[in-house]
Amino acid sequence: MAATFINGTKIADDIKQEVRAEVDQLRKNGVQPGLAVVLVGDDAASSAYVNMKARTCEQLGILSRKVVLPSAITTEDLLREVGKLNEDPLIDGILVQLPVPKQVNKHAVLEGVDPQKDVDGFHSGNLGSLLLGHETLVACTPLGVMELLRRSNVQMEGANAVVLGRSDDVGKPQAILLMHANATVTICHSKTRNLAEVCRQADILVAAIGRTALVTKDFVKPGAVVIDVGTNKVSSRAEVERLFGGDEARLSDFAKRGYVWAGDVDERSVREVASMMTPVPGGVGPMTIAVLMKNTIKAARRRRGI
Ligand code: GUN
Repeated sequence: MAATFINGTKIADDIKQEVRAEVDQLRKNGVQPGLAVVLVGDDAASSAYVNMKARTCEQLGILSRKVVLPSAITTEDLLREVGKLNEDPLIDGILVQLPVPKQVNKHAVLEGVDPQKDVDGFHSGNLGSLLLGHETLVACTPLGVMELLRRSNVQMEGANAVVLGRSDDVGKPQAILLMHANATVTICHSKTRNLAEVCRQADILVAAIGRTALVTKDFVKPGAVVIDVGTNKVSSRAEVERLFGGDEARLSDFAKRGYVWAGDVDERSVREVASMMTPVPGGVGPMTIAVLMKNTIKAARRRRGI
């Protein structure tokens, strides 16, 4: 039987509704949560993400501040801008949109964000708290995956979970979160031997390795839940046809835009064996912004002692 698709857009909308109700309540008590998003340079994709974040804030009644800085900025000047936001009483959450230009020391900048305002959960203090199982701000993408699993009633306790990918922003925190949910967790990556065989042990497989359609059906145990974190740009028509066959919607998107998004999971083969899976787009993607909003409210409450 073909897999059921988990509707990330619908679940993200549910979370945004919950956030909106919380914001309304906070505003009745004279508190308006505020999020600052820092964009360095004018990369079109980053700019579009930042605008989407700002628009979502506005929809939910969260104060939004966009700080756009020149692409030639130094680490020192960027740290000064972050420092101003750290001190700003109206700002509860700060997100520095990644990637930053290569002359900027990304690590120094992420460490420069006040951990109380670190809605990305990238500060080493917050990652340390996560590791220790303390209540803290956690990265939006892995937290979004946990929300998708919980709200789709996926049993995590005792399950074998395999995280494919070991990045600081997804793979590592994802593994910790799944472990705290009492799953038995394996992390694997590009150097793992017998990758398909390791992945095939998973009841829950989270693919976050950034390789288009790497996960084919031979990676998937029958009945497994497969979560696809990949967002890979496919810019060749031949590749679109190879991945999606005669899928009219995708071919028409490609004709309009010159590219389509594809995940790390080969949707056509994996849907024959998985029990549930997330689509790309419309799976994990919409969840990250919803969770960012949730993190902003959380930061506001904690910082203001509510
Ligand atoms: N760029 C792409 N995804 C993200 C994210 O989750 N946080 C930040 N800060 N930048 C990103």
